Amino acid sequence: MNKLIISGQNKLYGKVEVMSAKNALLPLIASCVLLDFEVGFLNCPKLGDVVVMLDIIKSLGGKYRYDGDTLYVDCSSLYIPELPCELSKKIRASIFLLGPLIARFRRVSAVTPGGCNFGERPIDIHLDSLRQLGVEISGKENLYLRAEKLIGSRIRLPFPSVGVTENLIMASCLADGETVITNCAKEPEIVCLCNFLNKLGAKIVGAGTSKICVEGVKKLTKNFAYYKPITDRVEVGTYLLATLNTGGEVEINGANFLHNVSLIKKIYNNTCKLTFESDKIYLKCCGVGSSLGFIKTGPYPAFPTDLQSPILAYACSLSGKTIIEETVFKNRFSIIPELKKMNADITLQGSKAIVNGKGKLNGAILNANDLRSGAGLIISALGAEGVSEIIGLDIIERGYFDIDKKLRMLGANVTKG
Ligand code: EPU
Repeated sequence: MNKLIISGQNKLYGKVEVMSAKNALLPLIASCVLLDFEVGFLNCPKLGDVVVMLDIIKSLGGKYRYDGDTLYVDCSSLYIPELPCELSKKIRASIFLLGPLIARFRRVSAVTPGGCNFGERPIDIHLDSLRQLGVEISGKENLYLRAEKLIGSRIRLPFPSVGVTENLIMASCLADGETVITNCAKEPEIVCLCNFLNKLGAKIVGAGTSKICVEGVKKLTKNFAYYKPITDRVEVGTYLLATLNTGGEVEINGANFLHNVSLIKKIYNNTCKLTFESDKIYLKCCGVGSSLGFIKTGPYPAFPTDLQSPILAYACSLSGKTIIEETVFKNRFSIIPELKKMNADITLQGSKAIVNGKGKLNGAILNANDLRSGAGLIISALGAEGVSEIIGLDIIERGYFDIDKKLRMLGANVTKG
């Protein structure tokens, strides 16, 4: 059962619920390494990548359990500062554990992380910035980290990396003195992590801006029962684009539109009606749009790279030319050969994809080569004429929970095969 079979052209109608964001949960779970008590996270789906992260925590001596959609993580008995090779190679987010592990144990052995394959994904900024907190690092594939103590520092990132910002925040929470991180990432997931740590007594200011200051504290303490992470803005974007591609009318519950402004600006035109409430987005389609013009991905608040494949898929079914430039992961275009199997007209010029929209695509047998290209293929298959098979459901389920069920509830003809 590792594929989705989609018979296209059913319009989507109804309500869909989004859950806590994968990219918020992964650093939150990593940050539990800093704690010697159990914490509960609400609204947590058992996503593929999240379960791998939890299994890593278990291999370090920690515990986790689910009670319905509430996830409990307990790192009080953590005792092994050694990241397991096989599990770490499965997810990029295993690198997020370096910061909290070095803060707790002062020594860590690790391997370079794996994750979705869209070209080279170096970890140089992670390692360089940890060095600036006083960490000695040796090895290449196998890494050994050691620190007498962590010392607050002023660190300017060469690129506003999400993971590096998170790693540094977690490491510097328990460092001696103040750490100031400039040119850092501003993603909502960073704000979510800082709010969580601050509730436990950390002293972090500036989350959501390009300068974050962390005043190290001796210990974090439990003073709340549950934490509710932000919901998944990429999941929201995926359902919006899927509906635009098929037509119909949906209500997305749990959606914070402020986290999706760059997408909303792109799709807001006279072919659809969008209305917003504090935790809902309503979308009503009333025609077929034309080109989306020029889209350039970038760090938040620019257009997210994680929605690049989904919007590229949607652009293929419009009637004009859309140009999409990828600036975060320059080779993140593994969806293009698959869309071409559906008769899409796309030319790749360096890090720019030029899409000549043709209206409806044809169903085909497709491969989900990475998580978000898999999501893009679902969007295309839902709007296409005929039947598509998307192989690699396990890759899609790394980041989308029950996507087949949710789409069926909206009226799509989707089955697992
Ligand atoms: N980079 C380096 N060196 C480093 C770290 C990053 O050169 O040491 C480069 C990367 O190669 C990339 C750029 O910096 O070109 C940005 O990478 P970033 O570190 O911001 O990405 P990340 O933290 O590894 C997170 C998300 C990704 C998302 C990116 C960008 C998680 C678990 N992952 O990755 O999510 O694409 O930020 O927004 O939070 C996904 O959900 O499908 C996904 C890949």
